[in-house]
Amino acid sequence: MKHDVCNRNDLSLLLDAFYTKIRANEEIGHFFNESIQDWDSHLEKLTDFWENNLFAVRKYYGNPIKVHVEVDENFNHTINPNVFGLWLNLWFETLEELFEGENVEILKRRARKMGTVLMVNIFENRGIVNQE
Ligand code: HEM
Repeated sequence: MKHDVCNRNDLSLLLDAFYTKIRANEEIGHFFNESIQDWDSHLEKLTDFWENNLFAVRKYYGNPIKVHVEVDENFNHTINPNVFGLWLNLWFETLEELFEGENVEILKRRARKMGTVLMVNIFENRGIVNQE
């Protein structure tokens, strides 16, 4: 029987499974494999982020917009909506494989919304020169 995402431990399981898929993905894995050196601390940070997001625990103090704009710069502005679409498909797939419930739907909605915000900010940062 599947249950809902209830606590930090559930989020850890989710993020472990999700980033295992991400890293193995032929189209988008390289963005992560080439950027992230220490996966243990990255997963810890992402667990803080989602715990903060879902359970209102003040643990994450980063700036995801800045981080993703920088990743796009590092990869010569090759992050596009397709990349975000693939990321979101894997997020939905992993959530549905492991859990079910209200928080699953909240995690889907929040990631979709955040993906839109990140993509718009990436485009804005490129400016007019890179829009051709
Ligand atoms: C809706 C989608 C996404 C969400 C919610 C999300 C969330 C996050 C968060 C919270 C962090 C940690 C930021 C920090 O260091 O404080 C992060 C890091 C990162 N994200 Fe995303 N992300 C999303 C999509 C993507 C996509 C599509 C890419 C593809 C290029 C990506 C690549 C990365 C990389 C490479 C890092 C690590 C950067 C570094 O530490 O050098 N993310 N993401």
